[in-house]
Amino acid sequence: MAGPTTQEPLKTQQKCIAIFALMCCFAVLMVLIFSSVDVWGDDEDGITEENCSNDCRIVLVENIPDDLSLLVDGRHHFPLSVGFHTLLDQAKHSVEVVSPVWDLNSWDLETMASTAKQGQLLFQRLLSLKSRGVKLKISSSVTNSAELKTLAAHNAEVHFVNMTAFTRGGLHSSFWIVDRKHIYIGSAAMDWRSLSKRKELGVMVYNCSCLGLDLHRVFSFYWQLHDRDYIPSIWSKRVTALYGKHNALELQLNATWATAYVSTSPELFCTKDRTRDVDAISQVIQSAKTFIFISVTDYLPLVSRSFRGTSVTRYWSPIDEVIREAVVVRGVRVRLLISFWKKTHPLTFNFVTSLKSLCMHLHNCSLEVKFFSHNKEQKDDVQHGLNHNKYVVTDSALYVGNHDWVGSDFAINAGVGLMVKMKNNLTDSRLSILEQVKAAFERDWRSRYAKSLQGSKNQESKYRNLQQAKIQMEIKEENNPLSL
Ligand SMILES: *[C@@H]1O[C@H](CO)[C@@H](O)[C@H](O)[C@H]1NC(C)=O
Ligand SMILES: *[C@@H]1O[C@H](CO)[C@@H](O)[C@H](O)[C@H]1NC(C)=O
Ligand SMILES: *[C@@H]1O[C@H](CO)[C@@H](O)[C@H](O)[C@H]1NC(C)=O
Ligand SMILES: *[C@@H]1O[C@H](CO)[C@@H](O)[C@H](O)[C@H]1NC(C)=O
Ligand SMILES: *[C@@H]1O[C@H](CO)[C@@H](O)[C@H](O)[C@H]1NC(C)=O
Ligand SMILES: *[C@@H]1O[C@H](CO)[C@@H](O)[C@H](O)[C@H]1NC(C)=O
Repeated sequence: MAGPTTQEPLKTQQKCIAIFALMCCFAVLMVLIFSSVDVWGDDEDGITEENCSNDCRIVLVENIPDDLSLLVDGRHHFPLSVGFHTLLDQAKHSVEVVSPVWDLNSWDLETMASTAKQGQLLFQRLLSLKSRGVKLKISSSVTNSAELKTLAAHNAEVHFVNMTAFTRGGLHSSFWIVDRKHIYIGSAAMDWRSLSKRKELGVMVYNCSCLGLDLHRVFSFYWQLHDRDYIPSIWSKRVTALYGKHNALELQLNATWATAYVSTSPELFCTKDRTRDVDAISQVIQSAKTFIFISVTDYLPLVSRSFRGTSVTRYWSPIDEVIREAVVVRGVRVRLLISFWKKTHPLTFNFVTSLKSLCMHLHNCSLEVKFFSHNKEQKDDVQHGLNHNKYVVTDSALYVGNHDWVGSDFAINAGVGLMVKMKNNLTDSRLSILEQVKAAFERDWRSRYAKSLQGSKNQESKYRNLQQAKIQMEIKEENNPLSL
């Protein structure tokens, strides 16, 4: 048979052609990938991580609603609205804003009067950026927002991030970058409530192009998600994190040496070298030696995800775990201030009771939990005096973020956080940002709005009230106590 000998060269030829074609395809593919990658990320104005400024000023900003009577220390306390206006005063080239909500103009007649003024003022200032030649860029997952349309008509560039397509979550991130050198990160959104009825806390960092550069990379990432419904597996170097848990930025905050970095979530949004929010929080808790003060709206170590219409709930341990270890193993004093409001999940009480019971019969052990609640009855949708803070402060570090400490939030919602660790201990930097945030925490903790779950006799009735409310909530949850 001659078959094998005559067909052999033919086969090799075919193989060659096939390989050549494959290589061509591969080359074209590579060109395509790299050209698309090049489009990702944009210019960084000549400032690099080598020559960025790390001699920064940090300012604590808070919104304390008028109807909460909290003693505010005027020397160190800056109203949030003043902070936003100061940032806008500094703007020369660009203002970049990410916010979960765009609702600065309240149309509610009852609240139109005085309380909503701050929101309107801020909106007007954002509109007027155009006349000063300052570019306004906004990343948002809000569709059909009249305010975004108005801003877009006034020269703002608005990019839409379809969170539904990525994680079925929400864009909860809330931050500002001004001229790539001044930043804001905190609990407040572009919502008139954040500037009036809700208690918010955040930080502004000025003259800090190193942090500005890095946070801008997070912004660039959102910016590039515009009109996409997938996250590419290859990233431009321009969205790679500059700093993180293992290579934090060394900087001066009001002449005090510290390290800092920006963290993000969900994991899908953590580009190369970017530290996850959960890991930043864990680092803050694990580095504490004497105290850990936590202030969040909700605390719930559960993750709930829906698959094909059914909801699957899992225990989510990372933060719960490090708190338990700090309390029991290292003898660190922990205080947890949680909001008690209409959306408090009933299982919150079970989880905090479990945490508290850890200290039973232990000498050097202290874990206290209080619920922050405004006494005023909540009739309308507006939650008066809600403590919307999301931070943890310890003897050596601070984390201010956008998420409540609920597993599902970290798993599917986008958020950012700022981790700051002081180089020296508190005793030699009396006026450090840690001292100020700690003072804010203690003010809230000692206020009449913070209620313990247990203790003296009159506390007991409060506990019963909480229990009663809890039962009412369980009834409202309609046979599905685990729904989040
Ligand atoms: C920072 O360095 C880059 C590249 O090394 C340079 O192009 C830029 O002009 C520098 N910027 C400043 C403000 O010195
Ligand atoms: C977002 O993505 C989802 C799922 O891919 C899609 O159904 C929806 O239409 C998108 N929304 C917008 C506003 O593009
Ligand atoms: C930032 O630096 C500039 C120039 O060094 C200075 O004029 C300004 O006061 C600083 N801003 C703050 C908030 O410290
Ligand atoms: C545990 O003991 C250390 C050293 O005696 C002390 O400084 C610390 O305050 C104690 N912690 C608690 C929670 O009592
Ligand atoms: C804290 O600061 C004081 C005063 O500078 C110093 O004496 C002490 O050793 C420091 N403690 C730690 C743990 O760094
Ligand atoms: C840092 O300096 C600024 C401006 O001088 C001041 O407003 C702010 O309160 C200071 N922050 C801290 C933590 O001392």
